[in-house]
Amino acid sequence: MARYSAWFQSVSGDPERYPLTEIIYRCPQTGELLEVVHDEAALKTKSASEWKSLFDGRYGRTEWPYGSGVWSKHEWVQPLVQPENVVSLYEGNSNLLWAERYGASIGVPDLWVKQCGTSHTGSFKDLGMTVLVSSVKQMISEGKPIRAIACASTGDTSAALAAYGAAAAIPVVVLLPKGKISAAQLIQPIANGAIVCSLDTDFDGCMRVVERLTHDPHVYLGNSLNSLRVEGQKTISVEIVQQFDWEVPDWVLVPGGNLGNVSAIAKGFQQLQRLGLTSRLPRLVCCQAAQANPLYRAYQKALADSRPVELRDFEPVHAGDTLASAIRIGSPVSLSKAIQALADCDGIVEQATEQELADAAARADLTGMFNCPHTGVALACLEKLVARNIIQKGQRVVVVSTAHGLKFTEFKAQYHEKRLDFISALPNEPVEMGSDPEQVVEQIYKVLDKRSKPAD
Ligand SMILES: Cc1ncc(COP(=O)(O)O)c(C=O)c1O
Repeated sequence: MARYSAWFQSVSGDPERYPLTEIIYRCPQTGELLEVVHDEAALKTKSASEWKSLFDGRYGRTEWPYGSGVWSKHEWVQPLVQPENVVSLYEGNSNLLWAERYGASIGVPDLWVKQCGTSHTGSFKDLGMTVLVSSVKQMISEGKPIRAIACASTGDTSAALAAYGAAAAIPVVVLLPKGKISAAQLIQPIANGAIVCSLDTDFDGCMRVVERLTHDPHVYLGNSLNSLRVEGQKTISVEIVQQFDWEVPDWVLVPGGNLGNVSAIAKGFQQLQRLGLTSRLPRLVCCQAAQANPLYRAYQKALADSRPVELRDFEPVHAGDTLASAIRIGSPVSLSKAIQALADCDGIVEQATEQELADAAARADLTGMFNCPHTGVALACLEKLVARNIIQKGQRVVVVSTAHGLKFTEFKAQYHEKRLDFISALPNEPVEMGSDPEQVVEQIYKVLDKRSKPAD
């Protein structure tokens, strides 16, 4: 890996470089976010077709650590981690599912869902966490005095950090907003032995505490403010293109909260284009819950003036209660990167109400999926953009499904048992029955008859 190199640099364009093994999260001059910059001249010593065949040859194989979806792109991700320090649970390589029936029903037959939730801890967070925890293991091996890794989380980040920390035997501290995450998400870091802190605040409050906690270099920051995470998450884009035999889709929709993922996805597509593996970028849609929509509001402000969204349009909001609890964020940390990503990928920001996200998730579930509420947000935004003819019938569309529906069963139970604040459009309640075989059979036929009648 010695041929390849990468370093941290400020997104503000400041030329100063910092090693990826330095404990640093923001530019010391400007306070801006850092990003990982790769030595692209070195990467260009391999041709586009050589990269494609290298990545295709590694896909899903067993040679450590290249069978991982992330580490199969080792040179593009974190070349300074030695293979013996990689902490991988063979994340990535997630299914790109052709949503044939659902797509046809809403008017986009070439619709695909990138199932990032079918991963080790059930969300896309594994992709970034393998890179961050491996980098920490590398730093410790080089003598850095790191005692623990800490993160603030809306549930999925803490699950991923706890699992990778446990796999590497590195202590983990997670800061969670009390009562605002699902039971499945809470039990994950508990089971993996993390120090689980339940704080009487929201995610934005937890983020303030973790920034204070990680002022001390003995506790390393695990949030996506740390741009090592972004490097792993950008492999979502490389994988999508690889799964389409190196073709770029027309649209990619992704739910947005802290806005690290939307910027990671743009970064992946841009790297593919710069290194000549593709020749264009897809259009991006950042999908927010209407209850936690600061970027959507900024985008609307700019749209009213017929110009691209800029940082000055943004105001933080107090994020309200939403079924999409993992994106309940009012002051997104990766805002500046997301605004740049939207500018680069001719992006759009859309929003979905609670009713819209729940009904869209249920509609897609009826075609065989099992969507988390955040994926519901992206699907609802897709339906709206198709209805407005912004996304068109002949176009190839990818929805990034960010977590597994099984982590959010309370949401589905409430929906189907009609316990939400709005009327569920597609409830499916269990039918109470006795034990007499004749009566049960009769009841089943009645239900079948009712279902086969066309709706009034
Ligand atoms: C399931 C799920 N979807 C979407 C997101 C949003 O990603 P980001 O915060 O990078 O915008 C998160 C982040 O917590 C998440 O857990």
